[in-house]
Order: sequence, then structure tokens, then C-alpha cells
Amino acid sequence: MNYKAHITDVFNRSAADYGGFGTHYFDIFAKRLHERAKGFPGACILDAATGRGAILKHALKCVGKEGKAVGIDISSAMIEETRKEIREENAVLYCMDAEALDFEDGTFDIVYCGFALFFFEDRKQAMSEFKRVLKPGGKLAISTWGEIDVPRRLLKNKIISLGVDPRVYPHPMPDEEELRELFHISGFSSLEIVPDWLDHTYANFDHWWECLSLRASRSTLEKLTEEQRQTLKQELSVELEEQSRPDGFHEEFHVYYVTGNK
Ligand SMILES: C[S@@+](CC[C@H](N)C(=O)[O-])C[C@H]1O[C@@H](n2cnc3c(N)ncnc32)[C@H](O)[C@@H]1O
Repeated sequence: MNYKAHITDVFNRSAADYGGFGTHYFDIFAKRLHERAKGFPGACILDAATGRGAILKHALKCVGKEGKAVGIDISSAMIEETRKEIREENAVLYCMDAEALDFEDGTFDIVYCGFALFFFEDRKQAMSEFKRVLKPGGKLAISTWGEIDVPRRLLKNKIISLGVDPRVYPHPMPDEEELRELFHISGFSSLEIVPDWLDHTYANFDHWWECLSLRASRSTLEKLTEEQRQTLKQELSVELEEQSRPDGFHEEFHVYYVTGNK
């Protein structure tokens, strides 16, 4: 299976549970990205790689009835699940590849892309598509992960020590310098890169572990045997004891919001 078919399959299998079960941090980040993009009533917006529509929902409230919100995703299951929730007449959802957008040039006031740039095989191609479909003066607003916190760093190192490649994405996560470069070479101006942190609390260690299997990280865990997974879980539950506090299991997320104008 090639990479695109593989990642589509991973998200197709994750779609039903993606919106809930401890991952409401996508909603928090979506709200914060949307605030940075400065949407406005009447705007026509695109949410590229919309997933379960976390950003689309905020954008829809903002653009109002006179605006329009379009969500696209490569996973048909994500689109089907999101269609069940978003039923407003001025919202449309399509199964589509962000690297080959089927929209006219200059269609949108704002293009959002939350936590998906790193899944694209050709980031420059996606950036060029985002720019093409934006109106002159329109805004691109993306979010992406920064440094990974202790739990996932330990998980990653343990998987490597088992001789298994932990990578989910085709290229490394873009750092601040690459983000700057990507926006620059794609011809965006007024670049803003804003770091953000969120201390997220899961009910307990098991909850954190279970969430890993409901997200893209499942594709790494699926490379292990059942026995390796159980040993890994057992070791992590001991070594990550410090993350467990009276209110639950903590994981800090570091995020970048990046905006630029066409
Ligand atoms: C981590 S989820 C983010 C969903 C949403 N934007 C959010 O912030 O909650 C990444 C999404 O990117 C989608 N995706 C991956 N590659 C894609 C591509 N080439 N074109 C469109 N969507 C893609 C996946 O199907 C998945 O729904």
C-alpha cells in the first residue's frame, strides 16, 4: 500500500472515535487557531484536512448565514462522520486531497489547515494549492505540533529500541525554521508564528494509552506484535508514573499557529 492509501486507511479506521474520547484538545486548538485567523461574518472559508470538523465548527459560527464554510478531507469516513454533525445549509464537505484541490483560483477568504501539513507527501504542493484558492489578500492559518512531551518521547525511543520505525509521517515534523521557509517560498507575507502550550489531562494512564490507538499513532503501534505492545504498555505505565497526579495523567502539548497573507 502506498503512503497516501495507508494514511487514508488509518484515518478511515479512526474517524468514528476521533471527535471524542479524551481528544477534545483538538477543539481547544481549533478555537485558538480560528481566533488568530480573524474570520469575519460573510467570509468564504476552506478547512483543508478537516477531520471531524473541529475548525469548521468554529468558523461556521463566525461566518454566519451569509458566509460559506467548506471542509475537505482525504478520508471518506471522516467526511461521512462530520456530515452527520454539521448540517448547516452553508456548510459543504467533500472527500478531496489537499494537494489537488478541486476549487477555482481565488475562491476563499481564509484557508485553515489544522494538524495536517505534516501528513502531506508534498508540503510545497499543498501550500501552493492553498495560495491558489485564496483570494488576493486572503489568509492561510495552519496549526502544527512543536516539541513532543515526555510520554510520547519515551514511547518513541522505546519503539526505536525494538528496531521498529516509529514514523507516521512521510517527512519530519516541520520546525519553526521550515515553517518560515515554507510560507516564504510559497509567497505568503505578514507571517506570524505563535507558539502555544496546553497541559492536557487524561483520566489515567490507561486512558492515555487507549487514545494512542484511536489516533494516527495507531499506525506505529500496529507495527508491533501484541506481546510487544503489552510489554511496552507495562513498562511505560511504570516509567511514566510521574505524569500521574491526583487529577489524572498529564501530557503537555506544544503547538505552533502560523498565519500568512496572500
Ligand atoms: C490530525 S487530523 C486533524 C483534523 C482537524 N484538522 C483538526 O484540527 O482536528 C489530520 C487529518 O488530515 C487528513 N489528511 C491527511 N492527508 C490528507 C490529504 N493529503 N488531503 C486531505 N486530508 C488529509 C486526515 O484524513 C485527517 O483527518
